Parts: sequence; structure tokens; C-alpha cells
Amino acid sequence: MARLNEHYFKLKAGYLFPEIGRRVSKFCAEHPAAKVIRLGIGDVTEPLAPAVVKALQAAVAEMADRKTFRGYGPEQGYDFLRQAIVDNDYKSRGAHVELDEVFVSDGSKCDTGNILDIFGADNVVAVIDPVYPVYVDTNVMVGRTGPADDQGRYAGLVYIPVTAANNFVPELPKQKVDLIYLCYPNNPTGMVATRDELQRWVDYARANEAIILYDAAYEAYITDPAIPRTIYEIPGARDVAIEFRSFSKTAGFTGVRCAFTVVPKTVMASTSSGEKKPIHPLWNRRHCTKFNGVSYPVQRAAEAIYFAEGRQQIRETVQFYLTNARLIREGLQAVGMQVYGGVNAPYVWLKTPGGETSWDFFDRLLNQAHLVGTPGSGFGASGEGYFRLSAFNSRDNVEEAVRRFQKVVS
Ligand code: MLT
Repeated sequence: MARLNEHYFKLKAGYLFPEIGRRVSKFCAEHPAAKVIRLGIGDVTEPLAPAVVKALQAAVAEMADRKTFRGYGPEQGYDFLRQAIVDNDYKSRGAHVELDEVFVSDGSKCDTGNILDIFGADNVVAVIDPVYPVYVDTNVMVGRTGPADDQGRYAGLVYIPVTAANNFVPELPKQKVDLIYLCYPNNPTGMVATRDELQRWVDYARANEAIILYDAAYEAYITDPAIPRTIYEIPGARDVAIEFRSFSKTAGFTGVRCAFTVVPKTVMASTSSGEKKPIHPLWNRRHCTKFNGVSYPVQRAAEAIYFAEGRQQIRETVQFYLTNARLIREGLQAVGMQVYGGVNAPYVWLKTPGGETSWDFFDRLLNQAHLVGTPGSGFGASGEGYFRLSAFNSRDNVEEAVRRFQKVVS
């Protein structure tokens, strides 16, 4: 009989967001009249920018005409998009990235999981706790961990806690680790990393021959000019960092699907015999074997955000969500809540009132206010006693959500 990958049995219950979905569906079935407002999963609500739609439609028209029709594209992405990425996301910030170091894909969630294919099973992996659950679960799935303890921490992973007590600034690992996931602006805490903090990580990685898996899916939300938008602004990062970027939150592509990963040719890892080799050819090989590229119309749509009209339109939408984040933050502070993040990020992280557990608070908010957020403990043990609200919603819903929230905690 075929054998299962039993590492899957180590995974805690369900993936966080489906579990929230299950509880919300049950609530809605029992209370059909309730007008539930969802500030849980970070899914965009505003429509695509007109310039993006125009590019998408024009590309679909090309596909409808024999003369301009295209079949398979390059697995790594069309050069027009890769060049736009290099010029606008990197060169403009003084960061060196080459066109063939950019791999266009259908999502950062997939890429942060798939990247594990090219690393050996014996790497020691560090995550910041609380953490985007995909980093942890994908390591569990490939068998890089033992079972989870009562708090959901998997044996074999190195957890670096961030809480209000350390101002959400992670300490460097005390032991030598090989792979480090960093996410800035951070999901779930909404905090950002300063240039000095990132430099510390790059220096650590260089000194320990580690690789940083840098998830910058929310970089478009950085408004503070002092905060790096890419890890490649940090000297030395090209030797030790892979960067994941996405059009999902930048341009409302959660349902369109387009992202990219930068794998510099200068990042090296070693074989079991100690020989150092670049990781770029392995990722290229993996990508070409398991992926056939993002569709042509979607890549044209993504390219549109790099032209003046598209850039301006997506900036306005990002600003709209940031204003939502500000309204949430200020509304919660007004009733004495301790809130974090939400300034250079679309997530507001808050301390649950009166020491309530994250899931108890989730249930209370859903039952009493018909509001959905994300329990902090779903992101890791250090998230217990915290709660995440997403700023992705209409203005009316956000204002109404703040009013309801205030009533529940006052
Ligand atoms: C989140 O809510 O954390 C994100 O939407 C998850 C994701 O981008 O996959």
C-alpha cells in the first residue's frame, strides 16, 4: 500500500485561517442575521487599479489573436516584468539585483514553502515567534522538526520570541542556525525593522554562514523613509539573503496571483562534504521543473504598476488601507488598549484585555460584536494574549468595526 508522509500528522489541527473560517461559518449559520465584519485574514477588498485592468485586458486581447498569441512563457518570468522589478524595486533604491536573479511566481506563500526543496534536511531553522504559520508548517511537512509541545512549539526549530517586553525586536539566536526566516513589515505584529537591526541579522548570517529568508510581502506599506524597503539595501545582504516579494498586498493581486523571489547568484550553501556552491542554479532547476510560469496577462498586469499611472493608483490604495490601520489603532488606543504596528504595515497587533487568551477573545469578539480578527496564539506561543486586526476592508466596515470593538472592551 502507498505510504503517507507522516510528518503531516505532527501539524497542529488546521491551518490557522481555515480554522477561523470554520468558526465564523458555524457562527453565521447559527446567526444568519448577524452582519459579520472580517478583519481576520489579510485579504484585500479594493478592486484592481484601472491601469492594471487595462493592461490585463490588452494582454487578453493579444492572446485572442493568432498573430500575438503566446503559449508557454519563460518559467522564470518574462524579461519585461523582471526588468521592471530590477529597475523600480531595486536599482531605484541603490540595491544591486540582476534580472536573472528574479524568479516570477504565483505567490510568496508558495515560494517560502517551496524554497525548502533546495535545502538539506539537517539545516537548523530559526523563526521569529509569533510567525507567519507557513514558515513553520512547511518545515514540519518536510520532516525538519519533531512533534509539537503543548504550546505548539515544534522540537528542532529555534523560536525567537518577540513581545511587548522586548519591544518586538528579536534577539539574535544564541546557537548557530542555518536558515532564518525574517518578515518585515512583520506579519503578524505589523512592526518594522530598522536598518541597524537588519544589518545585525546580515552580519550574523555572514558570520555563521546562514541564509536569511526575507519575506517583504508588505514592503509597499513602509512610509517611513528611514526603513529599508528591501534587505538588499543592507551591505553584505547579497551574500546571505533570499527575498520574497508579492503583488498581493501591493496591488490587490490576492486573487490574481503574482509574486517574485530574488535569489542572488552570490548566495552560497555547502554540500555534506563541505564544498560551497551557489544556490541559484538549484532554485532555477527546481522552478523550471515544478513551475511553468505565471500567465502572460497577469505578468502584463503586474508590469502596469511600474508605470506612472499604475504606480500612482496602487499608492492611493495602499494609503487607503494605511488610513484604515490608523483608524483601528487610534480607535483602540482611545479605549485604553495596548496596540502595536499598523503604522508601516496593514496589521494592528494588540494585547487582549484583562489577560484573556487569544482564542477566548476571538470567540467573545465574534459573539458579542460579530467581528473577526486573528488570535495571536495562532501565530505561535509568543502570540498568546495578543490579537491581530487587519486593515483590509472598506472604510465603512472599519469604522463600524472600531465602534463595535470599543463597546466590547469598554
Ligand atoms: C495573512 O492574513 O496573514 C495573510 O493574508 C496570509 C497570506 O498572505 O497568505
